Amino acid sequence: MSVVKIFLYPDPILRAKAKEIEDIDERVVRLAEDMAETMYVAPGVGLAAPQVGVSERLIVVDVRYPEGEKELITLINPEILEVEGKVNWEEGCLSLPGIKEQVARAERVLVRGYDLNEKERQIEAEGLLAVALQHEIDHLDGILFIDRISRLKRGIIQRKIRKIMREGPEGGKGDYNLF
Ligand code: NI
Repeated sequence: MSVVKIFLYPDPILRAKAKEIEDIDERVVRLAEDMAETMYVAPGVGLAAPQVGVSERLIVVDVRYPEGEKELITLINPEILEVEGKVNWEEGCLSLPGIKEQVARAERVLVRGYDLNEKERQIEAEGLLAVALQHEIDHLDGILFIDRISRLKRGIIQRKIRKIMREGPEGGKGDYNLF
């Protein structure tokens, strides 16, 4: 396992629609392991393959760490089957350091995907896990959390992003969730 580079906005790979994975081979297993390691070190609660430069449909999520025991979820070709309710959550993204914003998400989701043993998994999630899954699956479709906020706020954030790209993120890693 190794920590790999996280691609930052505005890298075009973050805007591409990621490809379905057809074979869960050794390469995919290694990619998933590297992504998990990278997420834990960041630290973040989720990471999608395009964020490490691979335009394929693979995500890792762990909303328990670093407070609790590790509870890693690896999902290949994940899709959202059902959504319910609405929630606003303060999100940040490992590919957009220094930016955080309230994002409207579904409160509960039912997600289906495959694990590394090619076994189908269905996950019913709410709260942070539901938000993290939606954020990561968005990444696979080239969607960033800044696309899901109001146009007014997006204008303000665009100016902040340009400043961060010039001068680097201000302050530390922040006390909000990074996906
Ligand atoms: Ni993100």
